[in-house]
Amino acid sequence: MRQLGILRDAGVLCIGGRIAWVGRMADWNDTLPEDITELDASGSVVFPGFVDSHTHMMFAGSREIEFTMRAEGATYQQIADQGGGILSTVHAVRGATKKELKRSTSRYMTEMMRYGTTTVEVKTGYGLEMDSEVKMLEAINELKNEEIMTVVPTFIGAHAIAPEFRGDTAGYVSLICERMIPYAGKKNLAAFCDVFCEEGYFGVEEAVRILEEGKRWGMVPKVHADELTPSGGAELAARVGAVSADHLENVSEHGISALEEAGVVAGLLPGVSFFLNHGYAPARRIIDAGVPVAIASDFNPGSCMSYSLPLMMTIACTQMRMTPEEAIAAATLNGAAALGLSDTTGSIEVGKRADMVLADIPDYRFIVYHFGVNHIRTTIKNGTILEF
Ligand code: NIG
Ligand code: FE
Repeated sequence: MRQLGILRDAGVLCIGGRIAWVGRMADWNDTLPEDITELDASGSVVFPGFVDSHTHMMFAGSREIEFTMRAEGATYQQIADQGGGILSTVHAVRGATKKELKRSTSRYMTEMMRYGTTTVEVKTGYGLEMDSEVKMLEAINELKNEEIMTVVPTFIGAHAIAPEFRGDTAGYVSLICERMIPYAGKKNLAAFCDVFCEEGYFGVEEAVRILEEGKRWGMVPKVHADELTPSGGAELAARVGAVSADHLENVSEHGISALEEAGVVAGLLPGVSFFLNHGYAPARRIIDAGVPVAIASDFNPGSCMSYSLPLMMTIACTQMRMTPEEAIAAATLNGAAALGLSDTTGSIEVGKRADMVLADIPDYRFIVYHFGVNHIRTTIKNGTILEF
């Protein structure tokens, strides 16, 4: 993660939306194809497009009231217990039309591209009933076809216990396994199946049932693991062969070893700890144990109302002691790995999609060092140049 393979005085040739050549300009001795568009990147740093491998960016309503409550001392859990939290967004999403959900998500996607994100994962999980989960799945899949950005849909019907099933988690798990997953599977609406494994949400055995059912329908498991308590989420992710275990603020040593042995990516979300004023995931111990770390925003109205990956990278450096190089690898190639896309995006390599961002900075470290401002002036997505 510390070896970025930086090239100076370099150039990239993109053909048909893919990277056809990359190297030092001094080593370029061919003639350029005739109808090529030239983009002068001198004075900037070119990064692979950022990959946001964990978001709940499709939502309705907002929760600034919870932000104020936390500033006054309430905790995320206390707010959830009082009927706020995920369930308040569920209420708003149930009341929103598919068109409304698409419109707000599409606007956020446009903004995210200005901040350098070229690939984004989007979760369901604010419906928690058949119709509303299907509405979210369809909306995400339509955006996947319509947006310039690469959109990866994840089904997380197990994001919270649906209000109708309060006290009957087993009943809700059955609805997920018997109706929601088969529907999403048959129509091929989700690449991944995720579960919020946590005290008061879904236990390990319930999560196994859901994730195994997802696997039968071709969905690769992901886990919200050990966010609030060490609840065995990392071990669960290893056991079911998840592509990533995300959060991990309270992961145990045993959990870290399990991730390493099973080759699971650790998806860390520094913005959540920052926003909720919780402890941070032990990034150093996770990296030093040989686990690949990805950084994502977790963009959602409750636990991280931001989609700026450069900001998440800065927080990772200052609060989690990751180096700038590790943070950059975590938001690019390792983010792609957390989505099973490291063969197609996440680095500037021949054959990969031409997903790149140009930042107006004198050195690559300024992306984390000079924080809180947007340095991105151009985003290139599948070879299409978007100038801001
Ligand atoms: O990843 N932990 C569960 N889900 C989200 C929070 C979603 C919300 O609060 O609306 C998370 O932090
Ligand atoms: Fe999340």
